[in-house]
Amino acid sequence: MASPVEQAIALLHSGGLVAIPTETVYGLAADAENELAVRRIFAVKGRPSSHPVIVHLPEPSALAGWARDVSAEARALAEAFWPGPLTLILRRGPRALDVVTGGQDTVGLRVPDHPLTRELLRGFGGGVAAPSANRFGAVSPTTADHVRGELGGEVDLVLDGGPCRVGVESTIVDLSASVPAVLRPGAITPQQLERVLGSPVRTATTGSTVRAPGLLPSHYAPRAGLYLVAQEEVSARIATLAERATRIALMAAEAPPLPSTVEHVPMPVEPAAFARKLYATLRDLDARGFEVIVAVPPAETGLGIAVRDRLRRAAAPRS
Ligand code: TXA
Ligand code: MG
Repeated sequence: MASPVEQAIALLHSGGLVAIPTETVYGLAADAENELAVRRIFAVKGRPSSHPVIVHLPEPSALAGWARDVSAEARALAEAFWPGPLTLILRRGPRALDVVTGGQDTVGLRVPDHPLTRELLRGFGGGVAAPSANRFGAVSPTTADHVRGELGGEVDLVLDGGPCRVGVESTIVDLSASVPAVLRPGAITPQQLERVLGSPVRTATTGSTVRAPGLLPSHYAPRAGLYLVAQEEVSARIATLAERATRIALMAAEAPPLPSTVEHVPMPVEPAAFARKLYATLRDLDARGFEVIVAVPPAETGLGIAVRDRLRRAAAPRS
């Protein structure tokens, strides 16, 4: 019997879709050089085809062919943080198809840090296109069960690598412009990037012209209405919300005395631990039918920056 990784490799070679574990979130993977297979990813996710997907590589040295004009800065970041939760946006090389880049002149590349997926990537040999394994606009999956529950019938195999260690998507750095820009915050912070580059990086704001759905104001959203609230405002906000909603959850490290209709979901104080629990908690609260989630974000340091970013988007008005 072939091992799950061997089965996954065979499926990728034959144009199949495989859900893969990474250190950040689970990805929905296909052979990046098989146009039909990549199109299936978009169909399953319900994602507009103009949105580019990240190509996952087994080693930093595999960059050649996927990117061109690879700068010293790009090499330094790849060397420092790969394998790891960092995606580099570089000028595309000949192996990057239009269906992968959304027709742009750039491609997103990363070497993920998960033992099963590295084994898969080494065995597969090529690049693997993989967005997060959720429907467009929904919360990313951080366990194999999340993927099975949401897309189970539509993927050929879910490779179970346990719960994701980081819990939020990779930091995306655009190196295609003159000044490096963080397009999406993640576990690798601007300070870490600046230390390696020896120069400042920009942090992008929403509404940029770059086609990155992770940059849309409303994204990563649960079904429930979500409100971001500072700890000292929790009591007042809940009192107001409780006049309208019957089922309210409070995601916070500490809870003040609460009305009986409000459930406190204890969240870690430490930002990295908060990040690890974030998406599983949002999914669980949705599954349990809460109408309203009130969240007190962690401190704005380390992974706290990424968590606050995702919570802000989840709280943004839906279109
Ligand atoms: O941690 C992660 O990055 C996960 C795991 C599976 O690797 N992947 C992930 O993929 O979050 P996805 O597709 O859900 O988000 C990737 C983001 C999207 O916002 C996409 O638009 C952006 O990266 N992106 C990809 N290629 C790009 C490019 N060439 N230029 C600008 N943005 C790009
Ligand atoms: Mg996504």
